[in-house]
Amino acid sequence: MKLLVTGGAGFIGSNFIHYWLEKYPNDKIINFDFLTYAGNLENLLDVERDKRYKFIKGDIRNKHDVEKALTGVDILVHFAAESHVDRSLYAAGDFITTNVLGTQILCEVAVKLKIKHFHYVNTDEVFGALPLGTKTKFREDMKFDPRNQYSASKASAEHFIRAYYHTHNLPMTISYCTNNFGPYQHPEKLIPLFITNLLEGKKVPMYGDGLYVRDWLYVKDHCRAIDLVLKKGIVGESYMIGAQHKEVNNLELTRKILKLLGKSDKDIEHIKDRPAHDRRYAVDWGKIAKLGWKPQYDLDHWLDKTVTWYKNNQNWWMRVKSGEYKKYYTKVYGK
Ligand code: NAD
Ligand code: DAU
Repeated sequence: MKLLVTGGAGFIGSNFIHYWLEKYPNDKIINFDFLTYAGNLENLLDVERDKRYKFIKGDIRNKHDVEKALTGVDILVHFAAESHVDRSLYAAGDFITTNVLGTQILCEVAVKLKIKHFHYVNTDEVFGALPLGTKTKFREDMKFDPRNQYSASKASAEHFIRAYYHTHNLPMTISYCTNNFGPYQHPEKLIPLFITNLLEGKKVPMYGDGLYVRDWLYVKDHCRAIDLVLKKGIVGESYMIGAQHKEVNNLELTRKILKLLGKSDKDIEHIKDRPAHDRRYAVDWGKIAKLGWKPQYDLDHWLDKTVTWYKNNQNWWMRVKSGEYKKYYTKVYGK
């Protein structure tokens, strides 16, 4: 089997490539990635000489390059995206061109080349926000209600995928995953940002009251779920992917990180809230459970492992936190 993964140099894409090469020794995998600020080939140093793996630098918005790379491919797993909410609020352009136009181009080429399976890695954020103190969870049949430029672009892209499914029989599946954590996550996102700030002796910037709830899932569980959808998912269907633990808000999660690093509440700095900050995400993963998936990695143990990974890989994140990142940090958080 020959797979092409878009965005394989990013956080989840690189974890997925590691997962796949380990699990399926006879498969070949192409990583098609434009290497934006979020793409990092250091994530794949251990496989770069593996004969089953090939990297192609390319932009999903370039139809010619996409067609060349996709020729002869069986399965397309589409991760490539502008993925950070905070960036999308003030510079939505790349979110529209990459997330929407790039996805439409992939659909067009996938139809032309008769790709056997196109899997779109969507996000639970397309369903908007749930209120605190209720038991409601996101389900596949809920109406989209994106509330920021990132989730609006991810939702728009899905509409195009569905249009290609209806009009051209694109053999697609979709998954909506909740917040991932684990190794190789860019330190613009909460968990790696807070761990690395604390390792640098800085405070952690908590938006608003910190009572925002996310459904944290270890990245390997996400890779296992996509694998299962590729094997057993029904074409045209979508699947929610969520975690197993009790709900944890940002303050509680931060206290777990502080404890693991021997720090205290004094290291939290409450800052101005993110505009239109989604209050709560919670996922009902009953549908994919029927295919035989449930999360295996619990939050406390794998958060501990993740903190250890960042402790042991300071060169990796220090490089990521230099250059462009410094400008971004000052813009969002001030000096
Ligand atoms: P990331 O930002 O770490 O990586 C994105 C990758 O896409 C980078 O390697 C980047 O270079 C590449 N890319 C960006 N624009 C491109 C373009 N025009 N052409 C080719 N490559 C391009 O993102 P991530 O956190 O790994 O997320 C991966 C996917 O999973 C995204 O589609 C995201 O919406 C989705 N998702 C993420 C989460 C999460 O918690 N991180 C949860 C659910 C869904
Ligand atoms: O739900 C899936 C989504 O999860 C993915 O689709 C996105 O790609 C991914 O970025 C993530 O979105 P969030 O906005 O939930 O993740 P982020 O890590 O940016 O923020 C998590 C929570 O932490 C959120 O409530 C905002 C808060 N936060 C975040 C940052 C970066 C802070 O309080 N301070 C911060 O500095």
